[in-house]
Amino acid sequence: MKKIIASNFKTNHTRKSTREFIDTITQYMDDESIKNDVYIFPPTTALDQFNINENLNIGVQNAYNVKNGSFTGEIGTEQLDEFGIKTILIGHSERRHVIGESQKDIALKYNYFKSLGYKIIYCVGEPLEVKEEGLTSTLGYIFEQFDGIDLDYENLVIAYEPVWAIGTGISATIEDIATIHKKLKKKITAPLLYGGSVKLCGLQDILEIDNVDGVLVGTASWDKDDFKKMIYIGSKTGSINEKIDCKN
Ligand code: 13P
Repeated sequence: MKKIIASNFKTNHTRKSTREFIDTITQYMDDESIKNDVYIFPPTTALDQFNINENLNIGVQNAYNVKNGSFTGEIGTEQLDEFGIKTILIGHSERRHVIGESQKDIALKYNYFKSLGYKIIYCVGEPLEVKEEGLTSTLGYIFEQFDGIDLDYENLVIAYEPVWAIGTGISATIEDIATIHKKLKKKITAPLLYGGSVKLCGLQDILEIDNVDGVLVGTASWDKDDFKKMIYIGSKTGSINEKIDCKN
């Protein structure tokens, strides 16, 4: 397998618990010689200098497309540079649908961070009413989220995160994920992650789907012991026959 495993903390964890989390994960990756890519996106207030494993990447959940200036409440690259951050999530559904970022805002942000060589995890996904209209509508909706986005950018990872599956406890089915990922992979060469109520117990099945290069996990990744187990599953080549100790 050797899959990408990413944790989006969203508005969770403090500076103290983030540092504990990152230290624990680094120690684990060092001890187990983990070679697959692992990402952690802590809240902005917890950014700091961390001594991390070479395959662990700390990113920011959001930033504004400026170096600095008068943009109250936002941070720019001057603030990210202070911590050596070169990875950003763009287009997350909570920013599109809760905060109200438009595709135009998102494309501007994408192109700014692309011009600076950032690793971009670019999120796409359809809301429930679009899914219910069928596959053509779903793909049409997702493809519109590629407007203004250079899909050939070499530092790009894409995450398919259906809005109806995020934070709801209802993960997409294996068939849903397989269908959408197959269609998306015809259009993109970037690694493609799945996100949306991924749980530890179901992780291996998701990672074994064709065209799934990894996962972007919210809720189920916030516990460091569970996240370690996720990294373990993602680091193996082939399937794991042992039983993973998981509650959900
Ligand atoms: P949940 O795993 O909590 O559904 O969140 C997924 C997500 O939005 C990751 O970016």
